[in-house]
Parts: sequence; C-alpha cells; structure tokens
Amino acid sequence: MKARLLLGSTLAQILLALTQSTWAWNNGAADPSYGTRDRETDLMARPFVHSPNRSYDHALSGQCLLFSDEYQYWETHYGKGGSSGEGSVGRSREWKWRIINSHVKEVDDVIDIGCGDLSFWEDRVSKLSHYFGLDISPTIIERNQNRYPDRTFCVADAKMPILGLKGRIVLCLDLLFHIMDDDAFFSILENLCRYSLEWIFVFTWCGNPFNLAWRLRSLYAKLVSAARMSRIRPLRIAFLKLPWVLIRSGQLGQDIRFLVGPTHCDGRYQKYRRFEKYLEIFEKNDFELIAKHRSPCCGGVGTMYVFHTRATA
Ligand SMILES: C[S@@+](CC[C@H](N)C(=O)[O-])C[C@H]1O[C@@H](n2cnc3c(N)ncnc32)[C@H](O)[C@@H]1O
Repeated sequence: MKARLLLGSTLAQILLALTQSTWAWNNGAADPSYGTRDRETDLMARPFVHSPNRSYDHALSGQCLLFSDEYQYWETHYGKGGSSGEGSVGRSREWKWRIINSHVKEVDDVIDIGCGDLSFWEDRVSKLSHYFGLDISPTIIERNQNRYPDRTFCVADAKMPILGLKGRIVLCLDLLFHIMDDDAFFSILENLCRYSLEWIFVFTWCGNPFNLAWRLRSLYAKLVSAARMSRIRPLRIAFLKLPWVLIRSGQLGQDIRFLVGPTHCDGRYQKYRRFEKYLEIFEKNDFELIAKHRSPCCGGVGTMYVFHTRATA
C-alpha cells in the first residue's frame, strides 16, 4: 500500500513538472538564462542608435517565441536560399528609387524596416552615412551583417518598439501586406512614426489583389506557363487539358483553394488591408501624407505613400 502511494505521488510529481515546463516553454521562458525577467520589456528598453556591431542583441533564440507568425515563413524561405522577391529588383526597384529620389535629395540616414536581402539597395548601403536594417529573419540578418560588417543590423519583429532608435528617413517597403495580425500591423505603423525624424516611405498595396478578377488572371498566367513548360501545343488545347496540367504540376488542391479562398488574404503570408483606413495614425503622430505614387509594376496594385513630418526643426 505504502509502495503504491509512493509510486502514485512520484508519478504525480513528474506529471506536474512536465506540465510546468511545457507552460514555461509556451510562455517564452524556455531559455534558462531568462529567469524571471520580462523579456518583452527588456527588449523594448534597449536603446539602438546607429552603432555598428550591436546587431545580435535581439537574436537570442528564445525571443523568437514572441515573434509574429511571419517568422516561420521568412526564416524557412531565406534558409532555403529564397530572395526578398520581385518588388526588390528590376523595373520595380528602379521605379521605387525614382520616387524616393524625387522627394529626398540625399538618402543618407536610413532605418529600413523589414530590410530583407538588400537587393533593393544594390550597393548603396555602404555609401550611406547611417544605415539600420531590421528584419524578423535571423538568417537574412546574419547574411547582411557578414556582407556589411560596419553597418547596423538587428533581428527583431517590427511590431516591437525599439526605444531611442531615430533616423531621418524610415523605409517600410513590401512589408505591410505580409503582416497577418491586425494588432501587429497597427504597432508597426506607430513604430514607423516613432523612428522617423523627417521622412517615411511606405510601399504597400492600394488595391486588393485577392479579388476574383485578379485571381482568375493569375491562375490563367500560371496555366499558360505550365502549358508552355509541358510543351502542350497549340496553347488552347491546354485549356481542355486544364485539370491534367494542374494535377501534373502537383498543385491542383492549392489552386482550387486559392480560387475559392478568402477574399483578402492567401491564408499564408499575404493579407490585404485598406491602407487609407490607417492614415490617421500618421496624422496623430504629426506626419502628413504629401504624395501617393501608384506603381506601374505588378499589375498596378502597389503604391508608394510618402509622409513628411509636420514638426519643424
Ligand atoms: C518582401 S520582403 C521586402 C524586403 C525589402 N523591404 C525590400 O523591399 O526589398 C519582406 C521582408 O519583411 C520581413 N518581415 C516580415 N514580417 C516581419 C516582421 N513582423 N518584422 C520584421 N520584418 C518582417 C521578411 O523577413 C522579409 O525580409
């Protein structure tokens, strides 16, 4: 009887210990060095003012638990050798630089939120007087830091405010439509205003690319390219062979989900919000929308929003 009681209480203790450690892990306390500190407060209290080589303060593994859903997607994407995407290269890049340069004569002191692989910069990063690049992906930040050891990079979720961080120009390009959580979206906009001393450039969607016409168009483009790759001729036969082409590309399920899915997001890493609805955040923080430039690239769904501070020096 005594032995059974002893066994029972030992099992109960093991169960309790297991439950507690799972709770601790889920709540971000898995890092033994973490102790009882509130990591979020700790993270926010750290000043970051353009000092090179202070980039990894945020890269402690446990802190990734506080990161948004985007973390997993981008870390895997860059880990597999992926790039920042079409918006950072070619015609799209040229157009964005033309817009930025039409407003700012000298691009000198920059905070780049969601900096990605720096394709957008070509080789300009080394020529700036100050550059601070922030991204949620440790992989891409490490790569950037190795490439530019004297520039400051930081692994962080853009939704977390970094106290003391200030720059004349804040860029937030091709980031906002990747933010899935509404509260995080709101916090990021607040942070852009917090960091900027003068200019904010936001490139994001002005229209909804998930409407039915856009979906049909992109499915059609995909079908044509799949048909070309499978060398089906003439092309119109491809449409009769549509299900077969899709099955062969191994994406039938994904394409059907895409066609009948939600009308504002892809359920994975892209979400449309009406950016105009959020302009009051900039207003409230004394930034005026001085220009809106619609991009001729990517089906014309992207726009550069240019804000300038109202506060006089
Ligand atoms: C499409 S890329 C754009 C990169 C760069 N801004 C450009 O225009 O070339 C989006 C970037 O945002 C980063 N990102 C996504 N969610 C983020 C978040 N919550 N905080 C910080 N960076 C984030 C991704 O890791 C990725 O590098």
